[in-house]
Amino acid sequence: MEELAETDLSYEALVHDLNNVFETITEAAELLKSDRRWKPLSATLCRSVNRGKRLVGAFPDSTPNLAAIVEDAIQSVTDYCTAGRKPRMRFVRQIPPEVRLPGSTKDWERVFVNLFLNAAQIMHKPGRIDIVAERGQEDLSITISDNGPGIPAEILSRVFRPNVSTKANGSKRSGLGLHIVASIVKKYSGRVVAANREKANGAVFTISLPVT
Ligand SMILES: Nc1ncnc2c1ncn2[C@@H]1O[C@H](COP(=O)(O)OP(=O)(O)OP(=O)(O)O)[C@@H](O)[C@H]1O
Ligand SMILES: [Mg+2]
Repeated sequence: MEELAETDLSYEALVHDLNNVFETITEAAELLKSDRRWKPLSATLCRSVNRGKRLVGAFPDSTPNLAAIVEDAIQSVTDYCTAGRKPRMRFVRQIPPEVRLPGSTKDWERVFVNLFLNAAQIMHKPGRIDIVAERGQEDLSITISDNGPGIPAEILSRVFRPNVSTKANGSKRSGLGLHIVASIVKKYSGRVVAANREKANGAVFTISLPVT
């Protein structure tokens, strides 16, 4: 065998191989599109591929607009619920249209997808997720609350640490979603706090970001 001068197991090489996976799914979605019954599923597959491509940085990043990112995240989680035949969530947003976030759209989409997914995964019936953004003098506050069972008391204080999870899925690695959320918020000098709602059932996550 020829001796390799250099090896390449870089992130770019991984993205190269992932693109082949995306291509296969896109081709399959194209086939499904021609049948009226499968057209919506085909669109779901295409949106998921695009999300995967955004995650690996295949598209140029746009200036992050909070309302637009939240819409994309809602679509991703709605697709997840539809494809997995899980109860649908109702999303209620109070977001001023002009609010911008620091940094990269793809980072913030990960934050909202993880928060919405957690709420959707923990509820076994249709639920409601509220997203409220308020701009103060010094910071922007975004709260995401749901009407699920709330965060179990025994993990509430360490919920942002890696591998803290109540998911019972054996050897599959869980407990990373909120760690990703906290890491991205920290990257932009913000903070995120987890709590349970006081007057009703459910969890509430509050993100505060300095206004620049
Ligand atoms: N909205 C919520 N309501 C109730 N509990 C929650 C909510 N969000 C998170 N939790 C609790 O926090 C735990 C940790 O969440 P996290 O997203 O970090 O991991 P996970 O969802 O268990 O696994 P992963 O995100 O890696 O698939 C969850 O297992 C769940 O017990
Ligand atoms: Mg999670």
